[in-house]
Amino acid sequence: MKKFKKESNMKEFLEYAYPIISTDKFKELKKYIHHAKHTCYRHVLSVAYISYKLALNNYKIDMASLIKVALLHDYYLYDWHKPGHARPHGFTHPKTAMNNAKRDFGLTKTEARAIRSHMWPLTIFHIPTSRIGWIICLADKMSAHYEYKVDKMLKKNKKRLEKMKERTSR
Ligand SMILES: [Fe+2]
Ligand SMILES: [Fe+2]
Repeated sequence: MKKFKKESNMKEFLEYAYPIISTDKFKELKKYIHHAKHTCYRHVLSVAYISYKLALNNYKIDMASLIKVALLHDYYLYDWHKPGHARPHGFTHPKTAMNNAKRDFGLTKTEARAIRSHMWPLTIFHIPTSRIGWIICLADKMSAHYEYKVDKMLKKNKKRLEKMKERTSR
């Protein structure tokens, strides 16, 4: 029964996400690394699914809008690790992502504001002002934390593996 519920949730999530994730413009996010070794594409999908799960039983949430905003919240379209981009990246990319998303997908005022405020409290004057904005802001932090943690674990285990190899080769 539980498994059935999970599958139906994923199906519903994909139905909402499909109009965005099926576009070539959105697939461009696969080119850019965001946190650790995770691409922007992977990160925003994770944020969208976390947001969906957080909002599941809240009937006041416009789910299509929530998932759209989550998928586009880091739609800044460049590799921020390379020189030549506005810095600090954490402060500047919400505005770039908002403008790009507006241009390519169209946004309501609430959606635009939610993207603009997703880095709060870093962007101190841009506080989330809607339920959607708060959910994205939280889901983004949850996902980023997980991505860095996985990377740290992989690095740690790589070191352990190297030490074991050294020991066994002696
Ligand atoms: Fe971001
Ligand atoms: Fe993000």
